[in-house]
Amino acid sequence: MHVLVIDDEAALRQILAAAVRKAGHSVDTAGTAREASSKLVRGDVDIALCDIKMPDGNGVDLVRSFKGSGIDTHFIMVTAFASMETAVEALRAGATDYIVKPVREEELLHRMEQIGSMRGLKAENQALRQLVAGDRGVFHFGSPSMVEMERLVSRVAVTDSTVLITGESGTGKGVTARSIHEMSPRSEFPFIPVNCGAIPENLLESELFGHAKGAFTGADRARKGLFSEADRGTLFLDEIGELPLHMQTKLLHVIEDKAVRPLGGEQARRVDVRIVAATNRNLSEMVKETRFREDLYFRLSMFHIHIPPLRERREDISRLIRFVLNGMVGKGKKQLELDPMAEEILVDYAWPGNVRELENVINRIYILADGERISLADLPPDIARQSISRERGGMDIASSGGLREQLRRVEADIIVRTLKECGGDRRAAAQKLEIGVSSLYRKLEEFETLGTMRSEP
Ligand SMILES: Nc1ncnc2c1ncn2[C@@H]1O[C@H](COP(=O)(O)OP(=O)(O)OP(=O)(O)O)[C@@H](O)[C@H]1O
Ligand SMILES: [Mg+2]
Repeated sequence: MHVLVIDDEAALRQILAAAVRKAGHSVDTAGTAREASSKLVRGDVDIALCDIKMPDGNGVDLVRSFKGSGIDTHFIMVTAFASMETAVEALRAGATDYIVKPVREEELLHRMEQIGSMRGLKAENQALRQLVAGDRGVFHFGSPSMVEMERLVSRVAVTDSTVLITGESGTGKGVTARSIHEMSPRSEFPFIPVNCGAIPENLLESELFGHAKGAFTGADRARKGLFSEADRGTLFLDEIGELPLHMQTKLLHVIEDKAVRPLGGEQARRVDVRIVAATNRNLSEMVKETRFREDLYFRLSMFHIHIPPLRERREDISRLIRFVLNGMVGKGKKQLELDPMAEEILVDYAWPGNVRELENVINRIYILADGERISLADLPPDIARQSISRERGGMDIASSGGLREQLRRVEADIIVRTLKECGGDRRAAAQKLEIGVSSLYRKLEEFETLGTMRSEP
C-alpha cells in the first residue's frame, strides 16, 4: 500500500513513516494541509495517517474535501486525547478510523492491515463486477425526480430491505441496483447480478440455489449456487418478471426462511442475502393475470423505486450528453463542443431506449464527427427526422434583434428544417435549397455562432 503521513511535527512524521516503511509499505509525507491536498489529488494514496491540527487547516476539513471526490483514500486520524471530539467528527465526515497519541507501532500496523484486507476484498469485488456486468455503475442526473430518487436510494441502501426497481428498458435499473449495494454496509461483500430471463428454465433452480453432487445427470460436482455466492452481499434479480411461477414459489421460501436447500441436497444452508429485483414489466398487472405471485410481489416491493423514462425528465438529457462526451475525453480522445442547435434537437428527441440509447447515439456521433464541434449535420438521420415530425411549425423564433439578425434566424430555421428533412445530408440539403454545398457550409458555420448567441442569457 501507499501511505501518506500528514503531520506538522517533523519528529512525529519521521517516526510514523519509519514504522510504516518497516511494515513493507511505501511512504510519503506532508507537513501542511496544503501539501497533503496536492499529494492526495494524485489518487494513489491508499491510507492517509492524518494529524488533526495543522498550521494551515485541520484534518477534518481535509477528510471532508476528499470524501465523495472519487478519490479512494482511507483516512486514519491521529489524535491527542484532548481532541477526541474532533476525531469523532472526522469519522462522521468519512474517516475510516482514528488512533490516539502516543501512537503504538503495533496498533498502527494492525489498523492498517484491517484497511488493507478491506481494500483487497473491494478490488476483487470490483473486478468480478466488471467481469459479470461489463458496465461502470455511475449516477448522473440533476432533474428533481432523479434527485428525489437518489434520496430514496441512499435511504434504503443502508437498510436490509428488499427493493424493487421498475422502469423502461435502459433507464438505469442496473446502475441503481449496483449503487444501492455500494452505498450499503454490504458493499465489501459480493454484488451478484442474475438475469432471470437469460437462464434456461431447467437450469434456474441449480443456478440460484446450487446442487449436490449427483443431483441430476451431469452434476458430477456440487455447486454452490448464486444465493450462497452472494452471502453477506446483494443478489440482484434482474428481469424478475421472467421468473416462471414455480420458481417464484421457491424464491419466496428462500427469502422467508433465509436459507437455501441445494437441489438434491439434504441440508438447508443459512444465507444472509439482500435482494434487489428489477423489471421493465408491470408486475401488478401480472399479479392480476396470475402470472406473478401476489405474495412475492408484496415481499419484493416492500420498497419500490420507479425510474422515469428520459422523456419525462428532459433536464437530465444535456447533462448526460456532456457526461458521455467527457467520458471520451477521459479515454484520451479530443474534446468536442456541442452546438446549441444540435443540443436542442437531442433534448427534444423521444429517447425510446432511454439512457442506453443516449450513450450509444452520442458515442456514434463522437466517432463520426469530423470537426471540433458536434453540429446539426452530425446527428443521426432518424433523430433529425423524428424531430421534424414533432416540429412546432412556423416562425416562433425569437423576434428580438435588428432586421439582419432576425433574417438570419429565419434563414437558420429554414436550413435546419431542410437538413433534418434530408436526414443530415448536406449535399442533398444544398440541392433542395438551390445553393452551393460550400455556401451551405459557410452558413452553418455562421449559425453556430448564432447558436452560441442564443444560448447566452
Ligand atoms: N443516471 C445515469 N448516469 C449515467 N449513466 C447511466 C445512468 N443511468 C443509466 N446509465 C447508463 O445507461 C445504460 C443503461 O443502464 P442500465 O443497464 O442500468 O439500464 P436498465 O434499466 O437496467 O436497462 P434494461 O432494462 O435494458 O436492462 C448503462 O450503460 C448505464 O451506465
Ligand atoms: Mg438492466
